[in-house]
This record gives sequence, C-alpha cells and structure tokens, in this order.
Amino acid sequence: MTRADQTPAWAALGAHYAGAGRAFDLRTAFAREPRRFDAYSLQAPEVFADLSKNLLDATTLRLLLDLARDCELEDRRDAMLAGRVVNPTEGRAALHTALRAPPGTAPHGDEVQRVLDAMLAFAEEVRDGRTARPITDVVNIGIGGSDLGPRMAVQALDAWRAPQLRFHFVSNVDAHDIAPLLAVLDPARTLFVVASKTFTTQETMTNAALARAWFAERAAVFGGTVAEHFVGVTTNLEAAAAFGITRTFGFWDWVGGRYSLWSAIGLPIAIAIGAARFREFLAGAHAMDRHFATAPLAANLPVLLGLVDVWYRNFHGFGSRSVAPYHQGLARLPAYLQQLEMESNGKQVDLEGRQLAYGTSPVVWGEPGTNGQHAYFQMLHQGTDVVPVEFIAVKRAAHPHADSHRKLLANCLAQSQALMLGKTSEAARAEHAPTAAPDLAPEVLARHRSFPGNRPSTTLLLDELSPRALGALIALYEHRVFTSGTVWGIDSFDQWGVELGKALANRLLPRFTSGDASGLDASTAGLLARLRA
Ligand code: F6P
Repeated sequence: MTRADQTPAWAALGAHYAGAGRAFDLRTAFAREPRRFDAYSLQAPEVFADLSKNLLDATTLRLLLDLARDCELEDRRDAMLAGRVVNPTEGRAALHTALRAPPGTAPHGDEVQRVLDAMLAFAEEVRDGRTARPITDVVNIGIGGSDLGPRMAVQALDAWRAPQLRFHFVSNVDAHDIAPLLAVLDPARTLFVVASKTFTTQETMTNAALARAWFAERAAVFGGTVAEHFVGVTTNLEAAAAFGITRTFGFWDWVGGRYSLWSAIGLPIAIAIGAARFREFLAGAHAMDRHFATAPLAANLPVLLGLVDVWYRNFHGFGSRSVAPYHQGLARLPAYLQQLEMESNGKQVDLEGRQLAYGTSPVVWGEPGTNGQHAYFQMLHQGTDVVPVEFIAVKRAAHPHADSHRKLLANCLAQSQALMLGKTSEAARAEHAPTAAPDLAPEVLARHRSFPGNRPSTTLLLDELSPRALGALIALYEHRVFTSGTVWGIDSFDQWGVELGKALANRLLPRFTSGDASGLDASTAGLLARLRA
C-alpha cells in the first residue's frame, strides 16, 4: 500500500503549499479569474456546490487529483462498491450503497429487498393505524448510528411527516433523557423501536429495559403486550427475541452503524414519511452513488470535497471544519456528521497498522444558521485559527413565510462573503461606530473592528429539503469521508477507539456499589469516593 506522504503528489503539494498555496488570496483570485465561480462550482445529483471560495487554484486541484490517483482512490472505491473487504480490521465489506441500489444491481440484492419490503409494509401499517392499537407516538431507543441518522432525517423531513404521528429519540443512558418522555406518553398509543446493531449496547439495553418495565406496569389496563408495542431493528435476532420482541427487522454486518440509516435502522424515517418517500430517499442516495462511481475525478463532488479536506488538514494545518446548515430541519446534521466523519476517520495508524505521520479527521462541528452567527461566528471571523466553513442552503422553504426565508438566505450568503472579503483597518477607520468607546484611539478601534478575510468556505445548495435531496446529501458526505480516508490510508469502517471507555465503564460500575477503589489511579479513586459520599 502506498502511503500518501510517500507519493510524488504529496511532495508536489508540499512544494506548492510552500509557495503559491500559503500565499493564496481569495480576493486576488476572484479579481484575476472572472470565471472563478463557474470554474469551481459543480452540479451533482440534487446538490449544487460552490467551491470557489476555497483556497485553491488550478495547480492545487491538479495535484490533489494526482494524489487521489497515487492513492488508488478509484480502485478502492470500486472495491467498496463491489462488496470486497474494505474494513480489514473487522474482515468486513462496507456495502451501505447496496441498501439503496435498485433490485438486482448490487450485492445482497434479494435480502436487502426482502427486509426493505417488510419494513416499509410495517411503516404503512403504523401510518394507517392498522397496528393492534393506533399509534400516535414512536420512540426510537438507540445510540450512535442507531440514533443520529433517523433523528436527523426525521427532523429534516418534518414537512413530509404523517401529521398524526410524533417522533421521539432516546439515546443517553442518563435517565434524564427517557424519564420525562415516559411521564407524558400513553402506552396504548406508543410504539417503541429498539434499534441496536449488536443489541448489547449498554445505553440502549438500559433504556429499552426501562421502557419495557414502564410499559409492563401499565399494559394490563388496556390488554397490550410487549410484542405489540415493541419492535426491534438489529443484526442480533436472538437477543431481540430474548428481550421479548417478536417483530424484528434485520440487517447485516456489512452495514456499519454510522452508515445504517438506509437499512431497517431507518424505520422511524419510513414511518414518518411513508414507503414511497423512503424509496425516494434511497433513490437520491443511489443517484449520488452513481455520480461517485462514474463521474471523472475532476468533476466528482465527493472526491473534490474529500481532497479539499486533505489539502486543508495536511497542508494548511487546519484542525477543524464547521458545518452551518441554513435550515432548521438540518439542526442535527452536524451531530450526525460528527459520527460519520470522526468515527470513520479519527484514526492514527494506516491499514497495515503503521503509525501515521500526518493528521487525519478534523474536528467537525456546527449549529444551524443563523443561530451560530450569534454565538461562535465571532471566532470564525476574527479568531486566530482559520476554520473552513461549510454552508448549506435550501432554495425553497417548506413554509409560506417568504420574508423569513429571504432573510435566512441573505445571512447565509453574507457570512461566506464576510469570511472571504474581510475588512481592512482603513475601511474600519472610515466607518462610524456609534457603540465604540468615545475616548479610544481611532487606529486602535480600527484594529479591533477589522477582519482578516481570506477565510475559506464551501456552499452547498439544494432546491428543497426533499427525501431525495436529503438522501443525496448524506451519500455525498459518506463518499467524501471515504475519499479522505482512502488518501490517508486508514480503515474508515472500524471504531476501535470507542472500546476502551466502554470496558472501563463496565469495570467501574460495580465499584459504585462496593466502593472498592483498589488498583485505581488516584484521580479516578478520588472522584469515585466523592460521588459515593
Ligand atoms: O459507539 C460505538 C458504536 O459501536 C457505534 O459505531 C454505533 O453506531 C453505536 O455504538 C451503537 O451501536 P449499536 O447499534 O450496536 O447499539
């Protein structure tokens, strides 16, 4: 396996960065290149991307594409799509693309369609009130990939939701999460979806047991059973049966947790938007899969985004990326992307276990616009660190309030403009600043009020936040993470880094009862003692 930092392209990128790359200025670039917007923007399925406000020129792009080739991106992509083992540490394929492929076009087609049909039929039953009792509240109990995807998508697609249904998501082992919900639910009208790939995750099993006990205490009044009001989504059918669940929708070990919302883990989404729209959601993702599989690298949006991520992380040294969705429905997208990107690419050794000498996953974070503007955007504009920002805007709103929507979009464009243009201290000095301290020297005030500018951003545009567009957007991010992970030469589909904390928590748990602190480090022992006192 060729290591990225030993390729000719990596060396060329380093040299390019040391010269034109570091000195690159967006304002100069736009002045020099009248067609820069056209040259650096791209229409992919459902998603238009403006990359022109990134710190790149034609040489940067050419060298990044060379790097992709040096790292055999196309071969690795084809191997993933064909179902070959791309997760060697767990000996698994990563075939989330097969979950959204038309019948007969991808591996495991028959089993995928069988579960999909069963799950969509059940979703329609719930929507039509054909379950043992009509359902008004659906509670998904899961965590990580068994929570973040459905939670994000159900909120994003709220405009398409069956109006008689409410959706709730419980993930935290902290019972402050589930307790207030149980206090208001009507058990006779509630459906619990216990979602866990392994059906062993501590948080999910704890919450599922709490929900079952709560339900069992009340069920006799209306003659309900766990089998009627609990369904399972898991690869561990035996454990679900042992829990008392008789209706289970399965999936497979070749679906990673953070790539699983296309599988039966998407059941809450299917119940919310219905079978036909869930199929549109899959079709949008599939359209992006085809784009990723077939578009030339230079016109391949996930590839370009992933390569820009590498450019920023490894040559500019930027440690984070902020995601700013200008749509309230995408409020949970940053949290979803945190798992997708940081659990996939937060690795320090390559596929062969060799320590890496370069950075991998950036910190991904963000809040919906315009809220973020009144919180952390100060730091993005004037802080000492450069944080590339990703703006996501949706052309058509799902509400009738055109004035609000125009204001939202104006703010979105204004922020990327401000990050790029900045403001010189001369311009600041020429401005009237009524709230500034009157005795402050004008040149000092101007320095406080100036913006460096030249801060990069990408803007993604959707026509509307439809099931199809959301599917394409998520698939875009999946393939982008695959692209940067492939260049970095890491296993983007394992997650060994979550194990140690889980194991230590299991070992600490009995000590909360026994008080035994033997063998513990002094800090953990001291904290345990205070918490028990
Ligand atoms: O935290 C690690 C993790 O394994 C994630 O990768 C996964 O999405 C989550 O836990 C939940 O796992 P499960 O679906 O098996 O409950």
